[in-house]
Amino acid sequence: MHDEKHEKALIVLIRRARDVLKANWQGNYTAPSVKQYPHQWSWDSGFITIGYSYFDEMRAKKELSSLLKAQWTNGMVPHIRYNPRYEHYFPDASFWHPLPDCAPEGVNTSCITQPPLATIGAFYFYINAVDMEEAKRFLKHLYPRLLGFHRFLYKERDPDGKDLVAIVHPWESGMDDSPAWKDILMQIDIPSGIADSYRRQDTLNVPAEERPEDEIYFRYIYLAELFKKEGYRQHRVVRRSPFLVYDVLFNSLLCRANECLIEIGRIVGEDTAELKEYLAATRRAIEKWLWNEEAGLYFSYDARSNAQIEKPSVASFSPLFAGVPGYEQAERLYAYIDGVCQCSLEESNSAVPSYPRCEEDFRSDRYWMGPVWANMNWIVYEGLKRYGYHHKALDIKESMLKLISRYGFYEYFDPIKNKGCGAKDFSWTAALTIAMCCD
Ligand code: GLC
Repeated sequence: MHDEKHEKALIVLIRRARDVLKANWQGNYTAPSVKQYPHQWSWDSGFITIGYSYFDEMRAKKELSSLLKAQWTNGMVPHIRYNPRYEHYFPDASFWHPLPDCAPEGVNTSCITQPPLATIGAFYFYINAVDMEEAKRFLKHLYPRLLGFHRFLYKERDPDGKDLVAIVHPWESGMDDSPAWKDILMQIDIPSGIADSYRRQDTLNVPAEERPEDEIYFRYIYLAELFKKEGYRQHRVVRRSPFLVYDVLFNSLLCRANECLIEIGRIVGEDTAELKEYLAATRRAIEKWLWNEEAGLYFSYDARSNAQIEKPSVASFSPLFAGVPGYEQAERLYAYIDGVCQCSLEESNSAVPSYPRCEEDFRSDRYWMGPVWANMNWIVYEGLKRYGYHHKALDIKESMLKLISRYGFYEYFDPIKNKGCGAKDFSWTAALTIAMCCD
């Protein structure tokens, strides 16, 4: 009886999630949220493709194809592909102009990147496909493009030959205002007039206290302007950027993406020796540079000051998703995830917040400084499963689904005040709801 009720509740939730994705569908891609983020975002599209892979192969294909039309000839997949229909988003397409020669013609893009979720999405597309032959044909088309992106990351973003990829902007991590970035950002001197030159749009639909503070936000803008002055030439951007970080989340997702691309390569009959080397080398490098034995956690690494950034965000657990830790390390991560300072919302809810609430700079409703996010919980859930922590994984999944069914498909959830925050009807929350319900 209980099972039947549970099953019915899941079916209703899946239906609601599909409605959210339908409402955000733009004909060739899915806006993360039409009001707040109307364009196509790179890692969002990867998560969204994972959701579509369970029920709509055609949309999954369109989503990835649209994203890869924005790929630069140097291999970079930009973090935003702009839709000319929407003008209410800042930074708009013209903010990044002039684009360099390697940007594609006829498509407006941003000039920085995001984690290679597209590769992971492509893999899910294949494993959940019904028409395997057609899916294989599509993978053949994708493989060189995805490989081009991975090569870009290793060639252009590994300045010290550490086999770790560096990000040059907090937006590249996906966790924009993570407390991990604050000290680095606050050391950057920015021109005093910069706040008067631009008008923030992100606080029009969402309360300002849920978004990054001005002093942080205008440093994002300053960095992007700096890259423009360097003509977006990668070696110059990497040399000049005061923000240069080996992000633990980005590198873990890259490892998982390498694994997926090796599988894709095998399916389409390509030689994947190069990818196998990338995978092994980056796994070793995460161990060497990002593991902190004392804390029992992985941290990102500031390439400018040559030191780990000892901030225990949810990104610290992402190496589980990529099979990086040994079992003893996994045990320590598990203990941390299971620890009291992680618990959120009602005591019985185990969804993992983006930042632990025992930390001084925790903010329960501010973006990546504490709220619970569905994509990060999905990553932790998959990571725990990979290491055999099935009970805890299930607990996290059920907790996340409980939040979503109770409060709605919000961008994130306040773990203290019990409410949905940020954008309503957010696409990756819906897509990963489907993935979690179907798993
Ligand atoms: C916010 C998030 C980022 C996401 C984007 C679009 O900027 O921090 O991770 O890609 O919104 O949803």
